Amino acid sequence: MRCQSADASSKLILLGEHAVVYGKTALAVPLLKPRASARVVPAPAGRPAGVDLKDLEVRWDGDARDVPPAAAPFARLIALAVERFPAVPACGWELVVRSRIPSGCGLGSGAATAAAALRAVCARFAVSCAPALLSELVYEVEKLHHGTPSGIDNTVIAMGRPILYARGAAPRFLTRPAAPCFLVVGHTGRSHRTSEVVADVARARGLNPVRHDAIFDAIGRLSGPGAEAFQAARWIDLGQLMDRNQELLKDLGVSSAELDALVGAARRAGALGAKLSGAGRGGCMAALAADAVSGQRVEKALKAAGAAETFLTEVGDHAAS
Ligand code: MEV
Repeated sequence: MRCQSADASSKLILLGEHAVVYGKTALAVPLLKPRASARVVPAPAGRPAGVDLKDLEVRWDGDARDVPPAAAPFARLIALAVERFPAVPACGWELVVRSRIPSGCGLGSGAATAAAALRAVCARFAVSCAPALLSELVYEVEKLHHGTPSGIDNTVIAMGRPILYARGAAPRFLTRPAAPCFLVVGHTGRSHRTSEVVADVARARGLNPVRHDAIFDAIGRLSGPGAEAFQAARWIDLGQLMDRNQELLKDLGVSSAELDALVGAARRAGALGAKLSGAGRGGCMAALAADAVSGQRVEKALKAAGAAETFLTEVGDHAAS
């Protein structure tokens, strides 16, 4: 049997996390790196499809009665693929998954590994799967991680393009800016459970809906101007919107001392703007840099400020990569 590989990018929310859960518009971009990859390889003919998670050293042999927790999203994904696509056999193949995307930190690692795996399965068994269907299937898998995700992670990663996203509406694709968009990601080293942070915010909103809805409205208003600044490569304007978003996320109570320290270090090193990205309370922050040299300076400053991991990266575009 022929092997087949595919990959998927990580993602960053530049503007609008949390507010997007409440129907506001957010701006999200795929990143050139870090990425996840998956490969379909042959397995014994009668054995149900399973998964080998190389980074976690977890292997599942396809036995539905005994699924290790880390393999559960892939068990769901395999079941979905077999159910939805008659050309995908239930037995005789295995997924091998590798990812450079740290998990539980706002970079969309769950959606990216699922998208890479589905792309590899579809390519191997000659199934045509449009990005919108890929996004729908990845969302089904995402529900296992996050409960009721807004759908932004699966959409931006499956589409592979910068988008404006609002729940229940078709994503609006953004045009490629004329200049590269350099971003520096700093990982606090503390992972978070998105579902728990989202539930905490929902509880706080229940206690004070007027205050929280005003914050969500204010966050939602940043995305439109942010998209215009992004498309026109007006990085100074985009950076200022990211800074404003960080203040609002702090008001929401989802930043942390570690995130604030990395955001401060990035700004002092010349970042045009910096904010947490994803659910917050740990995970990653992102800083916008004017160019690659400035990005290197920011990355160095993040390391010196205690970032557990850093990436100097660029906004990617699956169609163009
Ligand atoms: C997670 O990447 C972003 C949140 O807005 C949750 C979601 O959109 O599902 C915190």
